[in-house]
Amino acid sequence: MIDRISACEEIAHLRKEIERHNHLYYVEAKPQISDYDFDKLLEKLIALERQFPDYVTPDSPSQRVGGTITRVFPTVLHRAPMLSLSNTYSLGDLEEFYNRVRKLLVLEGVNEQDMVAELKFDGVAISLLYRNGLLVRGATRGDGIHGDDVTANIKTILSIPLRLPDFGSLFAQREESEIEVRGEVFMRREDFEQLNDSRPEEDRFANPRNATAGTLKLQDSGEVARRKMSFVAYYLKGYDEEGVSQFLRLRQLEKLGFYTGGHYRLCHELQDIIRFIQEWGEKRWKLPYETDGVVLKLNDARLWEKLGATAKSPRWAIAYKYPAQQVKTVLHAVVFQVGRLGTITPVAELEPVLLAGSTVSRSTLHNFDEIQRLGIMVHDRVIIEKSGEVIPKVISVVLDERPPDAEAVQIPSVCPECGTALEKPESEVSYYCPNEDECPAQIRGRILHFASRDAMDIKTLGKALVDQLVNFRLVKDVGDLYVLQEPQLERLERMGRKSAQNLLHALEESRGKSYERLIYALGIRHVGRATARELASAYPSFDALGHAHEQELATVPDIGPVVARSICDFFSKPSQPDFIEKLKKAGLPLSAADTKEQVNRNFEGITVLFTGALDRYDRQQASELVLERGGRVVGAVSKKTGMVVAGHDPGSKFDKAVKLGVRVVSEDEFEAML
Ligand code: IVH
Repeated sequence: MIDRISACEEIAHLRKEIERHNHLYYVEAKPQISDYDFDKLLEKLIALERQFPDYVTPDSPSQRVGGTITRVFPTVLHRAPMLSLSNTYSLGDLEEFYNRVRKLLVLEGVNEQDMVAELKFDGVAISLLYRNGLLVRGATRGDGIHGDDVTANIKTILSIPLRLPDFGSLFAQREESEIEVRGEVFMRREDFEQLNDSRPEEDRFANPRNATAGTLKLQDSGEVARRKMSFVAYYLKGYDEEGVSQFLRLRQLEKLGFYTGGHYRLCHELQDIIRFIQEWGEKRWKLPYETDGVVLKLNDARLWEKLGATAKSPRWAIAYKYPAQQVKTVLHAVVFQVGRLGTITPVAELEPVLLAGSTVSRSTLHNFDEIQRLGIMVHDRVIIEKSGEVIPKVISVVLDERPPDAEAVQIPSVCPECGTALEKPESEVSYYCPNEDECPAQIRGRILHFASRDAMDIKTLGKALVDQLVNFRLVKDVGDLYVLQEPQLERLERMGRKSAQNLLHALEESRGKSYERLIYALGIRHVGRATARELASAYPSFDALGHAHEQELATVPDIGPVVARSICDFFSKPSQPDFIEKLKKAGLPLSAADTKEQVNRNFEGITVLFTGALDRYDRQQASELVLERGGRVVGAVSKKTGMVVAGHDPGSKFDKAVKLGVRVVSEDEFEAML
């Protein structure tokens, strides 16, 4: 048991370390420790704060993990109106802006006209308020005068400092000092893709900006924390030493611990600005986030007020937006895909072309209305575009170049997979295959979804194998996977005895996954990972969930009437009782109590060394299992090594371990210890 004084010291030390590593990772992009070690520090802090709750402060990094539920976001009044910028796509307009500012400055008797060129981040504008150095409020722009208070959600963003460093006792000098920082909350491409992968196909976000806007308005800040957003600062007000230029303010923001992106430039003349725009027109595709243009700001901030603003935007700044990238290519064919929920999606097969940094050969046409709207025919020359959307899309047909052999796109009347007549609900634009239980495409889609990383994570169950399992009618639903036998599997193409055993082993392991994963894995329409998590905590058993009424479901945070309806539809299907019975027999985790996924601490404080090949794990997996359970993995044997796990053909490390008297165990013993 740690005493209060040591705990207090340890808490202070941990906080400093955690924020230092946050900054290294999120602002400087130079991490010094692994994610695993970082999580350990945070866990340690949380445990100590739990033991000594009176030491918890609002700027502790433990406050970033979320957990609060905000039902309604209070409206707040901005200190000064949050203006937007006037936008232009033309360099001519830019020159006009530049000359206009020159005239205004001459009237003020100023001859210099330095401008700062910054990248325009494609996200959501946010204002942060720091009182005496402490972050007290984060608000959206709203109508520019009033915004929404989203502080709890903002605190989860690790590139936002919760407390500013106190330079030269700035905060002590004044009774109360207030600093406002404005900037853009955004999502890096990688974090965006990870988020979309965890969502049902029908609910994916079109681009990182939409995902950011949606996430900022979530009621559950724990879910916001999991979604990983970032913040870039571009405006500072109220700081004594900020200097009077935008350039120095950006530098000051960096000193205060904010991320600015770092790609801004002081431009002395119009040519410098144009060069900056041209350079970034190419380089922006290599950035880990989306930028849609360049913002120009008069550097001398003392002149901002003099130049003033129109109703919406200041006269001292403008945004240049890059035109969306477009390219012409040939539409070879339109094929129809059947999703796991039966939706028919037309997909354009294109002559491969390079567009905005990647080769494009397919593009979704979304639905048949879209085909009609575009007036598209097979063999047409089409223009494809990549703008804010991550996936390129066909935007128009070059009618002048329509070839004589152009053919109309035939809308299928039956499912291309099972031949069932398609249906189209009145209120929707999509056609569906209603043959939910028998359509092989839907069966395959459900099984692949069940096995996917965010669901049951059954790595050995890939597309080629699922195709065979469904074609040979070995599997019709996910319950059937759990009665598969080795001899049946061995007979499949490219499936030896070893692969068959691997699959059975992976299925066996999947029984130990959590109840919330299972809810997600079943592929209920509109139920993604986050919704599954909410459902699992509101309904600790599958039976309880199945009996929940629609109105009751709609009261769970972030679950609306559409999701509630879809859950009820799922459980009321006539075949459902048999299916659930199968899942029970399979030993799947149908209640929170069944969840075995919480790992134990069986390797706490033990150093483990692996030598030789293991049958059932690769090195990486085996090491992770040890790390998750509190152990350490080392590469060399010494007397201090706790245990050596020896597989086939162990090397010299095995002999050394024996010589030193270190405990040596087999793969089976190792597995038993897990
Ligand atoms: S300055 C009064 N700088 O773009 C000036 N805005 O289209 C306020 N944006 O409302 C904005 N990157 O949400 C500024 N480097 C940057 C920006 C930026 C992105 C956003 C911001 C603004 C919108 C205008």
